[in-house]
Amino acid sequence: MVTISEVKSGNSRENRTAAHTHIKGLGLRSDGTAEKVAAGFVGQENAREACGVVVDLIKAKKMSGRAVLLAGGPGTGKTALALAVSQELGTKVPFRPIVGSEIYSAEVKKTEALMENFRRAIGLRIKETKEVYEGEVTDLTPEEAENPLGGYGKTISHVVVGLKSGKGTKKLRLDPSIYESIQKERVAVGDVIYIEANTGAVKRVGRSDAYATEFDLEAEEYVPIPKGDVHKKKEIVQDVTLHDLDIANAKPQGGQDIMSMMGQLMKPKKTEITDKLRTEINKVVEKYIDQGVAELVPGVLFIDEVHMLDIECFTFLNRALESKISPIVILASNRGVCTIRGTEDIMSAHGIPTDLLGRLLIVPTYPYDLDDIRVIIRIRTKTESLDLDEAAVEKLAHRGVDTSLRYALQLLTPASILAKVAGRTKIQVADVQECESLFIDTKKSAAMVSESGKNFIS
Ligand SMILES: Nc1ncnc2c1ncn2[C@@H]1O[C@H](COP(=O)(O)OP(=O)(O)OP(=O)(O)O)[C@@H](O)[C@H]1O
Ligand SMILES: [Mg+2]
Repeated sequence: MVTISEVKSGNSRENRTAAHTHIKGLGLRSDGTAEKVAAGFVGQENAREACGVVVDLIKAKKMSGRAVLLAGGPGTGKTALALAVSQELGTKVPFRPIVGSEIYSAEVKKTEALMENFRRAIGLRIKETKEVYEGEVTDLTPEEAENPLGGYGKTISHVVVGLKSGKGTKKLRLDPSIYESIQKERVAVGDVIYIEANTGAVKRVGRSDAYATEFDLEAEEYVPIPKGDVHKKKEIVQDVTLHDLDIANAKPQGGQDIMSMMGQLMKPKKTEITDKLRTEINKVVEKYIDQGVAELVPGVLFIDEVHMLDIECFTFLNRALESKISPIVILASNRGVCTIRGTEDIMSAHGIPTDLLGRLLIVPTYPYDLDDIRVIIRIRTKTESLDLDEAAVEKLAHRGVDTSLRYALQLLTPASILAKVAGRTKIQVADVQECESLFIDTKKSAAMVSESGKNFIS
């Protein structure tokens, strides 16, 4: 039997975005056309519009088993586009970003790693009716007791939770383990929560709107006090990925003795998820879908720097895209024609085999001009809360055109440090210049290596 109740969705979005925090979406109008500057995105209109179409197709569920390739030179916004797609999709659609080289490890086979990532990108929305206690928290008091093991300090013996709903109030005296999940969810008085009667799982729904303030700009979600009784049956919608199900059902083998404990500690958990288990889970999932209990939500697997994959991975990819349960795959590469990894001399565009290339929708990205780069630099200075004088912006923008957007953006932080050292808050041209002499760009670095190659080991 596949357990679902204990499944925790591990799909909270990872923070790979420090360089892209200014990107809030694709910045498209409602008719799908791109604004010149919107949602932190500047220029690259065609690619943004194309990605908008992809988002629409994904939302309409017409896209699974398809793949998109973002192709363009370094620093032309490919990774930024993919992250914008993820933002447009919202948190209910799984988005799994990886970098091609991530799948190589000594412990896990590369196709296994790919398979895991595929399953992290496929969501399942499960509707279940559960017995719950739901309401606004009116009271949250841990009751302490002497530590039974002696020593200093006290332990928590119970926690008293008061819940208020539309029809009444209830005081619950709960186990300390539930207190831990209450703390994990950061529940405070005034929040609306529900507690599952069978498992004791605690879920924070949001802040009660009785506590809503007049500020618009707040990251809180305000919800009304739940109707009906505190103790009731409730339809609960859970969003999990197939990988969450795999993990929850991969049973650690062996008994309770210390040796098998050790064995479990050292064995990477991943090896316990077998193909057999996956096949079983797929069967159960299909049954749930047929019964209308669950709905498949194909998400996105984003493979950045896809030329790092080798021929075996590409073969796997081809096959996985054919499967009935498949996510949408978005690839990105900045390579031109190059050798496919894992082959001796097979050359292909972007390092991708032609049979896979043939089934991709390709979205090109192009280098930015001076005006675009200038605006992007201004946006970045704002997100990094830096102060740049006009001449310094101009200088950086020109450097961006000669070298790359990324180089120009990367100089911002060190330049701000140099300015600080000089006792200024505003970054000036001199700081940028000093940075340029400290950190060279790729072109200069390549020139240096070819000029004075004898100084390096080759
Ligand atoms: N159109 C844009 N508007 C605003 N910021 C952008 C835009 N394009 C790129 N950027 C920013 O410029 C930086 C470089 O872009 P990004 O990392 O997306 O390039 P890339 O095409 O993925 O390059 P590479 O091929 O080297 O991986 C990032 O910080 C990104 O957020
Ligand atoms: Mg990139």
